[in-house]
Amino acid sequence: MTIIDGKQVSSDLKAELKAEVAELSARLNAVPGLTVIIVGEDPASQVYVRNKAKSCVETGMRSTVIELPASTPQEELLSKIGELNDDPEVHGILVQQPLPPHIEEYAVTMAISPSKDVDGFHPENVGQMVLGNLDKGYISCTPYGILELLSRYNIETKGKHCVVVGRSNIVGKPMANLMLQKLKETNCTVTVCHSATANMPELTRQADILVVAIGRANFVTREMVKPGAVVLDVGMNRVEDPTRKSGFRLTGDVDFGPVSEIASAITPVPGGVGPMTIAMLLKNTLQSFRRARGIES
Ligand SMILES: NC(=O)c1ccc[n+]([C@@H]2O[C@H](COP(=O)([O-])OP(=O)(O)OC[C@H]3O[C@@H](n4cnc5c(N)ncnc54)[C@H](OP(=O)(O)O)[C@@H]3O)[C@@H](O)[C@H]2O)c1
Repeated sequence: MTIIDGKQVSSDLKAELKAEVAELSARLNAVPGLTVIIVGEDPASQVYVRNKAKSCVETGMRSTVIELPASTPQEELLSKIGELNDDPEVHGILVQQPLPPHIEEYAVTMAISPSKDVDGFHPENVGQMVLGNLDKGYISCTPYGILELLSRYNIETKGKHCVVVGRSNIVGKPMANLMLQKLKETNCTVTVCHSATANMPELTRQADILVVAIGRANFVTREMVKPGAVVLDVGMNRVEDPTRKSGFRLTGDVDFGPVSEIASAITPVPGGVGPMTIAMLLKNTLQSFRRARGIES
């Protein structure tokens, strides 16, 4: 059984990106820039934003964090995004979720120029992905990270049955669409499960590749998994743990111990899919920089 080490892969990928950024910046006297906007003071979001900024700087890219108060009117946020769309030094724009209730998520997604939408959330980028034009848009970072793991671990996917559990716009739906594409690291037959799926264990037990993204701690048990399956756990759930200083620990959507005994490969939580998301965000930002400069990747 292989433990898929997302921490290692993301570190390798970031080192590769750093080398590419160094080469490009020496040649062009410019660096890729990522601007993250955070509205309000959600502590978890602040940690995510800090980590993104840190990784950005580590790879030699320029990181800018714009902190706005929770009371910021939507119009003001949209106008700030408009300024960033017009700024040639900014190659990636990301607005950290969740947003305060008075701000409409869809309006924010639509305001970001598709050419700087390194999260891959804009309908134009989603559309390119669904059409299989992966060289044109930006792929949503978490599913993109899973593709990278499958590729770097040489996991055979062609003709396999991939079952995706969860249909969110940021993970489940793009994941299922990607696995359907005719690519080296996809080309699967795909089934998608969600909260209204009947007889889910019957379906998950058919999966050669099982991707779980629902946000329910240890939901997928050993009985729901086919022996030899490749299991990719996107879930990040906080469960109480009085033995930890923080009072909690992170766990996935898959019951890791028992499932790892029968899987052929599995991602742990933490240290599996999670670290890949930021690495792919940086990869998308570098790609945006290249496109802005007319450089082929
Ligand atoms: N590692 C990372 O970088 C990363 C990135 C993003 C998310 N995550 C984690 O991944 C998990 C999912 O995130 P998300 O944003 O996709 O969540 P989400 O928007 O809440 O969507 C959850 C999906 O799971 C389905 N679902 C919920 N309970 C279910 C059940 N009992 N049986 C079957 N399906 C069920 C929902 O079905 P319905 O559509 O029918 O409601 C929905 O489609 C969370 O733990 C999140 O923290 C991790």
